[in-house]
Amino acid sequence: MLTRLDGLEQEAREAASSAGDLREIQNLRLRYLGKKGELTLMLRALAQIPAAERPMVGKRANALRDTLEQLFQDREAHIKKSTAGSRWERERIDVTLPGYPFALGQRHPLTIVLDEIKEIFIGLGFQVATGPEIESDYYNFEALNIPEDHPARDMQDSFYFTRRFLLRTHTSPVQVRAMEMQAPRLPLRIIAPGKVYRRDDDATHSPMFHQVEGLAVDRGITFADLKGTLLLFAREMFGPRQRIRLRPSYFPFTEPSAEVDISCIICAGEGCRVCSQSGWLEILGAGLVHPRVLEVSGYDPREATGFAFGMGVERIAMLKYRVDDLRLFFSGDLRFLKQFR
Ligand code: FA5
Ligand code: MG
Repeated sequence: MLTRLDGLEQEAREAASSAGDLREIQNLRLRYLGKKGELTLMLRALAQIPAAERPMVGKRANALRDTLEQLFQDREAHIKKSTAGSRWERERIDVTLPGYPFALGQRHPLTIVLDEIKEIFIGLGFQVATGPEIESDYYNFEALNIPEDHPARDMQDSFYFTRRFLLRTHTSPVQVRAMEMQAPRLPLRIIAPGKVYRRDDDATHSPMFHQVEGLAVDRGITFADLKGTLLLFAREMFGPRQRIRLRPSYFPFTEPSAEVDISCIICAGEGCRVCSQSGWLEILGAGLVHPRVLEVSGYDPREATGFAFGMGVERIAMLKYRVDDLRLFFSGDLRFLKQFR
């Protein structure tokens, strides 16, 4: 009996030291100490051995039970420690942990303002139209009543690809494209947001900037419709007390023409760098569509009249967010960009 116990101990020690995971240890426990385990059965068999030997063998068997239990426990602790960094441990998911924070992007301030402008005009029944940024001389100038030798071309210093193609200097060519598509059906009401390009570069002028063109053509449209639409826009955009100022101006494609200013929100009309000390900031050009432009685009100017405007989106964003240098919008500086929601 004693030799059998010694053999069992030897065997159990070897099995324990080669056990690689907790399930194996659990199996060893069952195998030796379980209800039908090898040691358990031997303990039960004690009753059959001679009474003289019984206390000694019994003591040895009981001690072995404790030894094995301790052995398995030690091995278990060892395995747990060495697998702490293992795959099994690492991939265990604790669903009660808070999630990892991750950076949420947000819209660029100009996109926010563009969306808001669109929203306002869509609410007034305008549809959104688009045109190409690489534009032909015809649509950018010619059809807008600006012939090749006309001095008005100097107002928009341009980037040319060839004599016939350039980066559009304004969104006004979309007026012509939209009228061509729809004429002679009335009414036509579109806005055309997009990028435009000029050889400009200072605190209120960028070589690439955004405009939103507006065009309404119908029977009996007057300057009053234009003024009312723009005032409503200014109040939706900047608040119900906002004022606008119309200055007589000149564009070859509108007659009469005006430039529209908004009272400078940055200095409250006191005069600052943004408004060139005038208290007002020009945000758009506008007017009644020139009869010649209506005509080349397919409308009969005796039947249809229209108004048009072209606003600078950066200028509006500068006023809305009180930004005193337009170049910040294109700096890519997150400290700046993160301020807009
Ligand atoms: C035009 O571009 C005309 N096409 C507007 C127009 C449309 C008139 C329809 C009549 C009918 P102007 O060059 O003034 O006009 O530019 C319009 C607006 O764009 C300006 O009021 C200003 O807000 C903005 N703008 C002009 N140049 C720049 C620039 N370099 N950087 C940022 N904004 C500019
Ligand atoms: Mg101007």
